[in-house]
Amino acid sequence: MTTSQFSWIFALLFAGASITSCATATDPAGAATFTGTLWIPPAVTGTTFNLALSKATKALRPGALTNTYGFNGSDFWGPTLLVQKGDAVQINVTNNLPEPTTTHWHGLHIPANMDGGPHQIIVPGQTWSPHFQVMNNAGTFWYHPHLHMKTAEQLAYGAGGLIIVQDAEEAALALPRTYGVDDIPLVLTSRRFTADNQFDLTASFGDVVLANGVIDATAALPAQVVRLRILNAETERSYRIGFADGRTFQVIGTDGGLLGAPVPATNVTLSVGERIEVLVDLSKEPVGQILTLQAFNGGQGAAFPGGATETTGEAGSLLNDRTFDLLQVHVVAATAGAVTAVPQVLVPSAHWTTADVTHQRTLTILESGDGMKFTFDGASYAMDVINQTVAQNAIEAWTVQAGPTSGHAFHIHDVQFTIVARSTGTLNSWEAGWKDTVFVPAGESVTFVAQFADFASATDPFMYHCHMTNHEDGGLMGQFLVQPAP
Ligand code: C2O
Ligand code: CU
Repeated sequence: MTTSQFSWIFALLFAGASITSCATATDPAGAATFTGTLWIPPAVTGTTFNLALSKATKALRPGALTNTYGFNGSDFWGPTLLVQKGDAVQINVTNNLPEPTTTHWHGLHIPANMDGGPHQIIVPGQTWSPHFQVMNNAGTFWYHPHLHMKTAEQLAYGAGGLIIVQDAEEAALALPRTYGVDDIPLVLTSRRFTADNQFDLTASFGDVVLANGVIDATAALPAQVVRLRILNAETERSYRIGFADGRTFQVIGTDGGLLGAPVPATNVTLSVGERIEVLVDLSKEPVGQILTLQAFNGGQGAAFPGGATETTGEAGSLLNDRTFDLLQVHVVAATAGAVTAVPQVLVPSAHWTTADVTHQRTLTILESGDGMKFTFDGASYAMDVINQTVAQNAIEAWTVQAGPTSGHAFHIHDVQFTIVARSTGTLNSWEAGWKDTVFVPAGESVTFVAQFADFASATDPFMYHCHMTNHEDGGLMGQFLVQPAP
């Protein structure tokens, strides 16, 4: 029996009981029933990887199966690619869908024609085989479709997967790194279901949380220091992640890898496309203890993605403006060789400052009248238009200014950047590390600095866009060429 069959039977057994136990006066929709088992995507290693994207179905709810997409036979999502910095890898991506797709390696520093953006289209039945050297530091990255105007839909169906980069510096630290045991991938998203159990793709905010594709997920974690690699794979919603008991955890990594030192936090906000690595100390917990990871999304205001009060319609959700459960942790016995202390020092790196900058530019996000259509500086994405040209090796400061009503999750390909300023004057404590995606709240701006080294092309552009996939598909994307140094 597969894990998913097991959790399905489990869900059936407990479906009756959970209807009464989940509802409380204060939180009718947000309290999960915890009848699912967190699925751990299989990890694949080596230097040649094969990925095949196909239609699938998944038993998510009683009744009809839900139509999904999955890689390599998965009924939602795909395997985790575990790669080593320095390795030359090739990934053979076969498109078994009846429509075109692309597969983008989010966060990796690779040539534009290997990047899997909107230009590297894989037609049905075809295999695309990009190859590149892994240059990123150890960290948590991901792959997902990037076909213009189809990204939201294909990702919503479940086409995606994680990429874990490992390197010598990370390996030298006393960190939890046994995948699926004390090093746990956690991909957060949500869906609304139609009456016949299909994903409602008109909803930008789901009503039901999916953790690694599982509803009401529980995870058995050992009584020791445990690492969570969390990805927000939503359409729009941000998550203010913390534990129900308010415990402090340690942020050890951001989009581009490990921080210089752990940053303590009781909650961290993750916008769409961002990743975070945290250490949670379970070493003092008795076996059998239950902890709940939650999203503290209540009271954030309408500009917070998922903070609006409406519960129905395109921007409404049963999870809006409330605290809701993400994962229930059941503490089990510690493993042999358990990590029981959080390292004081991680991987210090020299970050860019404004003093390094050789060129600066500003992108202003414009909102159209109905509040649903966004552009960078009035230009909707066009495949044949180059919006920015960067000189190879330039160290640039980019300022992204959001419009008055909506925040955006700004993402740029090719580089990892350092956030140097927010218009509010305050950077979040966990944002000091390498980033490729940053939330720009409504009415505010963010400035980051990056160097555009190594890869240049007079013809193949990289993308920048809002990672809220409905905004991206709606045209809030641009492309830049890195012009070869003379
Ligand atoms: Cu996660 Cu342009 O993508
Ligand atoms: Cu946006």
